[in-house]
Amino acid sequence: MKVLVIGSGGREHALVWKVAQSPLVSKVYCAPGNPGIGMIAENVPLKVDDLPGLLAFAQREEIGLTVVGPELPLSLGIVDLFEEYGLTIFGARRNAAIIEASKAFAKDLMKKYRIPTAAYEVFTDVEPAVAFIDRVGVPIVIKADGLAAGKGVIIAQTREEAVATVTDMLSGNAFGEAGSRVVIEEFLRGEEASFLAFTDGKNIIPLASAQDHKAVFDGDQGPNTGGMGAYSPAPVVTPSIHAKAMDEVMRRAVDGMAAEGRPYRGVLYAGLMIDGEHVKTLEFNARFGDPECQPLLMRMKSDIVPILLAVAQGDLGGLAVEWHDKAAVCVVMASKGYPGDYAKGDVITGLDATAGIGELFVFHAGTALRDGKVVTNGGRVLGVTALGTTVREAIDRAYRGVAAIAWEGAHFRRDIGAKALKR
Ligand code: AMP
Ligand code: GLY
Repeated sequence: MKVLVIGSGGREHALVWKVAQSPLVSKVYCAPGNPGIGMIAENVPLKVDDLPGLLAFAQREEIGLTVVGPELPLSLGIVDLFEEYGLTIFGARRNAAIIEASKAFAKDLMKKYRIPTAAYEVFTDVEPAVAFIDRVGVPIVIKADGLAAGKGVIIAQTREEAVATVTDMLSGNAFGEAGSRVVIEEFLRGEEASFLAFTDGKNIIPLASAQDHKAVFDGDQGPNTGGMGAYSPAPVVTPSIHAKAMDEVMRRAVDGMAAEGRPYRGVLYAGLMIDGEHVKTLEFNARFGDPECQPLLMRMKSDIVPILLAVAQGDLGGLAVEWHDKAAVCVVMASKGYPGDYAKGDVITGLDATAGIGELFVFHAGTALRDGKVVTNGGRVLGVTALGTTVREAIDRAYRGVAAIAWEGAHFRRDIGAKALKR
């Protein structure tokens, strides 16, 4: 079977890497892909939001399975379009992807179906929003309703910052249309985890636990990014937390979406805040997390293709997903300045040297080829991902890979996985 993966980040490189290992697969394409992906699959120069172009390509090449990485094509309805033409595609339909595309929708769903989450209200006008801020006090969390590439959430430490943020968002200055509605919610304390599950709309199969590192600097300092590193398993997800995440978050969300007439098929990602024995849901995403996908797929023992097919065909019953006992750690190497403005086009050295380190894979994200050399071309550039018998061993191996790689202004966190060692 031929498989098409849509996207161009570390997540998609990991998906291509995993899919290509399946004996069911004869050829893998990736649109648009990146230079790392191009070494193991054929890149197709189509943008992720070029729905007609992607459909025509899948029809022409007789693609047996399309796997959607990022949220944008999901929220544009790529799954609905492909299904209309009888193609098999893994991902959430448009009316289900809203669970990520609108934070106000997600919060209302959580309230209606008793999924534990932070207290909140939704606003379109500044005055009542400020009154709410004054009632709740700071710190307080302000979220643009729509998609903002993981950057639309501000944790305001002062009243002044909170008022300035809502004013900016509601006036359309920040995040444009995505900020024309805001969710304002209670600040939660605790440790975060990424809890992902495959679902066909009825059956739910959890993935292994994972933890992301959202802030740009060590010790969770600085602005939030799409994620600076991740590891799996995450010891903060104890067996009792796992049970709560399944019963109170995943089961209620999947059943709630079905009850709303928005059956959810695909991979559902719950961002959890864990405080002792309490679990609260920060957000839902309608896709694999990135970078979480990288360590998770390195740990996945099962062939992923039958699982993706079963989800797409709406029949996950009877399937199971097996995991390697080993831990996996992914350290993201980013361009200096990310998540703000950053330079592009710096030559990356040392990629070949990492080949000698066993059980390590360097997934590409924002890279490009220039005169035969791999150069930086995005905020998050590489995901250096390693396995180990323990988290400690996986951390050491991943950082050995990072130490071999260099470019002008490369930035990475030095404490990826440290929270797991503290437990
Ligand atoms: P979200 O996109 O809603 O997951 O928010 C992005 C990040 O902001 C989360 O991963 C948390 O680090 C932080 N965050 C979001 N909501 C809250 C909250 N209510 N309390 C504390 N931190 C939060
Ligand atoms: N790493 C967080 C996300 O993918 O949303």
